[in-house]
Amino acid sequence: MKILVCGKGGCGKSVVATLIAKELARRGKSVLVIDMDESNFGIYKNFGVEQPKDFIQYLGGRKAVKEKIFQAREGFNKMTIDDIPEDFVVSKDNIKIMAIGKIREFGEGCACPIGAVAREFLKSLRLRDNEFVVVDTDAGIEHFGRGVEESCDLIVAVVEPSYESMQLTNKIVEISNKIGKRVITVANKVDDETSKFIKADAYIPFKREIYLACLKGEEVPPIDESKGIVELFLT
Ligand SMILES: Nc1ncnc2c1ncn2[C@@H]1O[C@H](COP(=O)(O)OP(=O)(O)OP(=O)(O)O)[C@@H](O)[C@H]1O
Ligand SMILES: [Mg+2]
Repeated sequence: MKILVCGKGGCGKSVVATLIAKELARRGKSVLVIDMDESNFGIYKNFGVEQPKDFIQYLGGRKAVKEKIFQAREGFNKMTIDDIPEDFVVSKDNIKIMAIGKIREFGEGCACPIGAVAREFLKSLRLRDNEFVVVDTDAGIEHFGRGVEESCDLIVAVVEPSYESMQLTNKIVEISNKIGKRVITVANKVDDETSKFIKADAYIPFKREIYLACLKGEEVPPIDESKGIVELFLT
């Protein structure tokens, strides 16, 4: 199953992707986390690992992909998780993590090649029954425009208690329905009062231990609410 986690900037996409991946791994599943956020470097610390090499280097780097964008399509040719070269993944507790690519330099160019590689890689990646992919996306809905969702089986829309986040989530649900993708909504960072404003499939309270772990760059601790989220799509 390929799961894509999306939502407004800062709503908790990376935290929720981490919690889902950890809960799946706890249940004995093999998980590949794909970081397709071209700007942030944060999801690795959530797992307590270092970032691997950008996967886009596998195809000769951004320029090569940009010049011949569909090289990406041929480059993968029905890969499995085990085929991903070692340099481009870090592994921990049944979880592998990879980064599609990051923008690191001034004037380096736009994120289009990263989106194209993510889309083509996801499309050609072959999964066994016990394998799950969790994609942590960049903020907003540009990835819908790039067609990254095409080969995903489930969209997880993370919503925080803010008007803008709720508006964007409505949009994500609308687009997902239009393209025939199952979507579940996860309200994150809520409390008893704010949760009343959001109708979601699952709720994660604002947890001080998560907040502090993120602040210190430490591993995100497992929480009970992850079980309920995973059960929404495993059963
Ligand atoms: N359930 C939670 N409880 C407390 N704090 C949280 C929770 N979820 C997220 N946070 C806080 O929100 C911050 C942003 O979370 P996260 O990095 O997962 O968001 P994001 O949507 O991935 O952001 P970006 O759009 O920048 O990628 C974290 O650094 C942490 O401080
Ligand atoms: Mg993030």
